[in-house]
Amino acid sequence: MSQLFTYLNDARGRHLEDLLAFLRIPSISAQEVHRPDIERAADFLCDELRSLGLEVEKITGEGNPLVYAQTALDPARPTILIYGHYDVQPVDPEHLWNSPPFEPVVRDGVIYARGASDDKGQLYAHLKAVEAFVRTGTPLPVNVKFLIEGEEEKGGHSVYDYTEKNPEKLACDAVLVSDTSLYDENTPAITFSLRGMCYTEILVDGPAQDLHSGSFGGTVRNPGNAIAAIVAGLHDARGRVTVPGFYDDVVELDAAGRADLNRLPYGEAELVRDTGAPSSSGEAGYSILERMWVRPTCDVNGLWSGYTGEGGKTIIPAKAGAKVSMRLVPNQDPEKIARAFTDHVNALAPAGVKVEVRVLHNANPVLVPRDSAMMQAGLKALETGFGKPATFIGEGGSIPITGTFQSCLKVPVVMLGYGLPNDNIHSPNEKFHLDNYYNGIRTTVAFFGEAAKLAK
Ligand code: BES
Ligand code: MN
Ligand code: MN
Repeated sequence: MSQLFTYLNDARGRHLEDLLAFLRIPSISAQEVHRPDIERAADFLCDELRSLGLEVEKITGEGNPLVYAQTALDPARPTILIYGHYDVQPVDPEHLWNSPPFEPVVRDGVIYARGASDDKGQLYAHLKAVEAFVRTGTPLPVNVKFLIEGEEEKGGHSVYDYTEKNPEKLACDAVLVSDTSLYDENTPAITFSLRGMCYTEILVDGPAQDLHSGSFGGTVRNPGNAIAAIVAGLHDARGRVTVPGFYDDVVELDAAGRADLNRLPYGEAELVRDTGAPSSSGEAGYSILERMWVRPTCDVNGLWSGYTGEGGKTIIPAKAGAKVSMRLVPNQDPEKIARAFTDHVNALAPAGVKVEVRVLHNANPVLVPRDSAMMQAGLKALETGFGKPATFIGEGGSIPITGTFQSCLKVPVVMLGYGLPNDNIHSPNEKFHLDNYYNGIRTTVAFFGEAAKLAK
């Protein structure tokens, strides 16, 4: 181990330069103009994995390419499947960035760039861990497979289809994912739960075109008023979601689980500090961490109607719409929720407009049992890599494929987070701390070592 860590210390400058090159590729999956950049990002990974001596496949189909790679497979050794995503979120609002999102800069030991933390920097740490073994001539103590996708951020299908069709090829003893965060800068963490997702769009159609609001106001249903009524009807006064049956399958934490979770020091002050919101809010009867990690939600992600430009314009808008997503927890079923939501929105819709609900994508919630040997190996690896005691945390976000890994591959999904909760992922000035990058690489190296100790 010490020879590997010496190699990593000496290679820091180059490991940074290589990551910056990856971050310069604007691989935004949501925007079609970036399709060539998606291709470049996949090729960048293929080239590097090939140069490390892995057998590499760029898998092309209808969606964005998947990158699959594997080391030589020794049946006597455990196998680790590493998952990550090379696509990134759009950059808007771009004027709020202090430096251009695809011209990474390092200030005070922090890299600023879109994708730095989510997920290029975290994913790339795994490649550099493999590099350390290869370049020092140290035999890898485990077999390593990589499966890397390019449509995580837009809810694409390619990686599901591939996983469902290729469970034997992807067979492994654990899946390793770094696409989450430490608990805070002093506390490395394994994420053992993720929320799922049901993402929808509501479209409201009224008059054939915008109308003068003086001539026609008060005579036809206003789509703007209608979408507001629908959205207002999604919660009750206690902050609970009103979709019938919404909470039926929710697993409630028992008293011990609640106590465990609420031991972490996160309250009103911390939330206000991290979000800049004036105060907390949410479902009555649950702590902030419970609302973040183990309670389901329903939130507007976008809302539009009528004129929103400068000055006034007196119209009844022809159309209105909203993007509404629900974060789901074990054992809610996204498809069942989608049906209940659609029925509920139709019931809330006032007469005089046409309302359509479209379900854009779903993801299952995930709960990883904490007691497996691989999860314990993950804790030890974090402690070695970061030099500090590690803990288990929940996470409110979603990594859609992880549920499918659990059900198809039937192994623990070990989520070792190398980001920080305030890395501004999906926001302006996304960042990734160099210490976390370097400690992350060390952690992956250590995880291979810990995993190798476990009997096959
Ligand atoms: N890496 C995130 C998930 C995440 C979010 C982990 C926050 C830790 C903290 C992932 O890339 C992501 O953004 N997932 C999307 C999935 C959605 C598009 C289906 C999400 O959670 O919104
Ligand atoms: Mn991610
Ligand atoms: Mn993301």
